[in-house]
Amino acid sequence: MNQETPNHYFDAAAETGVHTDFSRAMSYGAYLQLDKILTAQHPLSDSHDELLFIVMHQATELWLKLMLHEVRAAQGLIRADQPQPAFKMLARVSRIQAQIIQSWDVLSTMTPADYLSFRDALGKSSGFQSYGYRRIEFALGNRSEALIAPHRHDPELAAELEEALNSPSLYDDAIRLLARRGFAIDPAVLNRDLRRSWTSDPSVLAAWREVYRDTERHWDLYELAEKLVDIEDWFQQWRFRHMKTVERIIGMRQGTGGSSGVAYLKRALDFAFFPELWALRTSL
Ligand code: HEM
Repeated sequence: MNQETPNHYFDAAAETGVHTDFSRAMSYGAYLQLDKILTAQHPLSDSHDELLFIVMHQATELWLKLMLHEVRAAQGLIRADQPQPAFKMLARVSRIQAQIIQSWDVLSTMTPADYLSFRDALGKSSGFQSYGYRRIEFALGNRSEALIAPHRHDPELAAELEEALNSPSLYDDAIRLLARRGFAIDPAVLNRDLRRSWTSDPSVLAAWREVYRDTERHWDLYELAEKLVDIEDWFQQWRFRHMKTVERIIGMRQGTGGSSGVAYLKRALDFAFFPELWALRTSL
């Protein structure tokens, strides 16, 4: 090899001290349990594209799991009146969202014909039954008891979703923090029925407006609000990319989960987790 070729200087085999005996020590694969993860892809058809479809879903589910881990930890910190360290977690959630939005580009290399080659094998299974997604929607505040129904066959999972439905959302925790900081939040808001989605409330709007009108005084609340807006913004972009990718692949067909498909996914775009944070922008 030519002396000037950079690769000349990279010779992995020449590296001394590389560990090679894992008969007693924990290896990379053992730590990550790759034997489970990398053997969990079982296409049901001979279609070349089905592996892409499975990996895309599984990778997204892993990222959703991490998102929930971060959101829950952030909620704990906000409840303990420590919003500052929660910001790091919420920022991480946004970066994960950027990652899963980007991954639609990989899936959209699949054409309608590719998808139809294995779609029948999916039966009635659909993202509607993604409990990872439902848990994150519930944690952020988009709640509906009816959406637990596809998980009732698994009592443990249904109980976990029930518990999530009865616990404050990230936004409930943010509003309670506003109340503890002395903002006049309507008591009905603080004692609301947690099982329902948040709608909107004038006392919450007034409180956030005050925060945005004097950002220096309320800097951490202002930062919290902007972190929430980031999450909502990215969430909508994920929903939009999902809807558009679905339209590109199945057009206006019904979904395997039984919904109207793209029409349903378009309606989901109208939901806002943190409506006052959007409304205040018009009335500042
Ligand atoms: C070919 C690719 C895909 C198609 C054609 C598709 C289609 C659909 C359709 C039509 C729905 C509405 C429910 C139904 O009737 O099934 C839906 C929901 C859903 N999909 Fe997909 N999807 C695709 C890929 C993905 C991927 C990669 C994910 C990532 C995990 C995903 C997650 C979800 C979730 C979470 C829902 C529920 C949304 C909600 O309740 O608002 N989908 N999908």
